[in-house]
Amino acid sequence: MKVLVIGQGGREHAIIHALSLSSSVTEIHAVPGSDGIAKNALCHNLDWRNFEDILAFCLKTEIDVVMIGPEDPLVAGLSNFLRERGILVVGPNQEAARLEGSKIFAKEFMSAAKIPTADYEVVSSVEQTLVAAKMKTPPYVLKADGLAGGKGVFICKALKELEQAAQELFVKKSLGLAGEQALLEQFTSGWELSYLIMTNGSEFESLPIAQDHKRLRDNDEGPNTGGMGTVAPLKISNELKRSIDEKIIHPTLREIQKRGFVYRGIIFFGLMITEKGPSLLEYNCRFGDPETQVILPLIDEDFGLLIKELAQGRLKNLKFKNLSAACVVMAAPGYPEAPEKGVLIEGDIGSESESSYFLHAGSKKNSEGQWCTSGGRVLNAVGIGSQVQEAIEKAYTQVEKCRWRGLQIRKDIGAKITNCT
Ligand code: GLY
Repeated sequence: MKVLVIGQGGREHAIIHALSLSSSVTEIHAVPGSDGIAKNALCHNLDWRNFEDILAFCLKTEIDVVMIGPEDPLVAGLSNFLRERGILVVGPNQEAARLEGSKIFAKEFMSAAKIPTADYEVVSSVEQTLVAAKMKTPPYVLKADGLAGGKGVFICKALKELEQAAQELFVKKSLGLAGEQALLEQFTSGWELSYLIMTNGSEFESLPIAQDHKRLRDNDEGPNTGGMGTVAPLKISNELKRSIDEKIIHPTLREIQKRGFVYRGIIFFGLMITEKGPSLLEYNCRFGDPETQVILPLIDEDFGLLIKELAQGRLKNLKFKNLSAACVVMAAPGYPEAPEKGVLIEGDIGSESESSYFLHAGSKKNSEGQWCTSGGRVLNAVGIGSQVQEAIEKAYTQVEKCRWRGLQIRKDIGAKITNCT
């Protein structure tokens, strides 16, 4: 079977790594891929924005299934375009991808489905934001409506900070159209987990629950990032699992069916477990990054067959390995505000075993063939073990194999996992 993966980051490398271990898969292609991904896939210098080029490539190469990694192509309708032309695709159609593409749409959808989530107001000016804040207590959460590459959420401890965030969106227009409108939400406290399902729009299979670490620094301090590390599986009680399924997963799928959305792919539920039970923070319409890096090594199936069946609308009962996985994100100096590119990576980047390896996220080879940073999150050090502690230790041992000036990592990935249940 020939698979095409759209994307170029750590999540896509994790998907390609899992495909490379699938006996059903004979060829893996990536668009555009990266120098690191090129170790496991044939990379093609095409732009997914040119849908016709992607279609022509699929037809010429006789691709059996396309797996779309990031949200942007889904929100732009690449799934619809390819599906309508007979190509098997993993990923929701454009209408359903609005669950991630518009935070306002997602909140309206949650309200219609009676899903527990924080109260919100839609705002589009500094004045409106400050008026709406009067009905809430700090900290305030201001979320840009559109896709903002992880930069659209402002958690503000006081009104002054909220005013500055609103000015960023509505006066400086730092996120462009994505920040023309925003949600002002009540901050929800509790502990966060990443709950992902594979779904054909009506049935679903839950994947191992993961825990991300969103803040840059240890003890959840510093600015928000795309995610500094993950562990899985996070074991939760049967009661909590039932409550999540009843209050959040089933109502979501009922609403998807009611609206007639085509959904053959992944739904990522960003959940906050509060004193009152689970509350939905956000939907993502694709695998998480860096959640995928710790979820896929735990799936005890031929991943290639699994995604082909999913693209055909069929789900099978998933089996999982009795293992744990951890991923430590190694970030560039300046991440998340202004990651420095071109910093030389030293050490043994090729060092790998079955249970510890690097996935490439924002790395590339320079003109002299040396590895250097090319994005914010540069490498993902993955460890797999029979216990979560062993997985964490292996991931940190892997981290030591590479270094660069200004390398940023968190040293407490997974430290809280035992306190969460
Ligand atoms: N780790 C969060 C995300 O993928 O959006």
